[in-house]
Amino acid sequence: MIVLGIESSCDETAAALVKDGKTILSSVVASQISVHADFGGVVPELASREHVENICFVTEQCLMEASLTWTQVEALAVTQGPGLMGALLVGMTYAKSLAYALKIPFVGINHLEGHICSIFLDHPQAELPALSLVVSGGHTSLFYLKKLGDYQEISRTRDDAAGEALDKLSKYLGLGYPGGPVIDRLAPQGDPKAVPFSIPKISDGSLDFSFSGIKTAALRYITEHNISRLDGEASEPPQKVPQEILDLVASYQSSIIDQLLHRLKQSLKGREVRSIQISGGVSCNSELRRRATEAFQQQDLAVYYPRSELTTDNAAMIAAAAARIRPGASDPWSLTADPNLALCARSRFQF
Ligand code: KG4
Ligand code: ZN
Repeated sequence: MIVLGIESSCDETAAALVKDGKTILSSVVASQISVHADFGGVVPELASREHVENICFVTEQCLMEASLTWTQVEALAVTQGPGLMGALLVGMTYAKSLAYALKIPFVGINHLEGHICSIFLDHPQAELPALSLVVSGGHTSLFYLKKLGDYQEISRTRDDAAGEALDKLSKYLGLGYPGGPVIDRLAPQGDPKAVPFSIPKISDGSLDFSFSGIKTAALRYITEHNISRLDGEASEPPQKVPQEILDLVASYQSSIIDQLLHRLKQSLKGREVRSIQISGGVSCNSELRRRATEAFQQQDLAVYYPRSELTTDNAAMIAAAAARIRPGASDPWSLTADPNLALCARSRFQF
């Protein structure tokens, strides 16, 4: 089955054609980084407007790259949530209109399920049950994945997401936007032990994440050490970055990774786990990949990540997540975007 995926939950307008949930025929992403860079974060209203501008072009480009015509598309999968309401509505409305015109089924997909499924595009053999960590600019959630479609949430962030924490520090320091890739590039030049940050403990003993404390601690450090802001651009961090900033970003990134690995290790206790899976924009981080792979080697657990272009938001992961839909199953026209959509097993899928 050839599924056309549409993703517009945040600041990427994306379309992809995926065959049988495995083969990406084409995947097109229109990034809005340059639109939001001046603000150091996503401006929801601007994001919606950009989606409206780009969605037709992105989808047509996607068909062209796959050398397919509209009549060869057999089903439509669209991100239903979670995400920015205005942004989600653009993709949902467009997908419904297309499905109506083409007389094909359409289904709403949870964005987090998309990230989880991105792993299986490259690693269909990834062993289950697994601990599946989705870590991005909008989400930091850990699931126990017994089998595909059976997601048990172990924990989630109580405040910021890990990627958001990286983006914010970069904004304070003037290193450029988005912060994650910039910090990834700069951190190897700094000392990860130079600034002591602690792993937050949640008082009720849950394994939830929290990144607002480390953000505040970093801000305090910047003020106390009179660190001045640099002038990084979206694509180019400043040429010369002082050593104290390199040490700060290395320590900050290291502490975020410490927390992610701590929660993963704690979640192994009392669960049958055959692999670790890490997806979402932050899963692209080179130090996270190095340390996670090393951390679980002793337990003989393989750690899987998507290829780098499938870590950040894309529509191939949305189309892939729809691959297990029963033939002919379709969502009703009344389905609407849900900015707070929870991830739960969906009965219309076949497993
Ligand atoms: O998955 P994504 O595109 O959007 C959400 O679903 O939120 O993730 C974007 C996030 C941003 O916060 C960005 O800074 C972060 O992923 N990111 C990275 C790297 N590449 C992107 N964080 C750390 N290291 C990277 N190499
Ligand atoms: Zn995402």
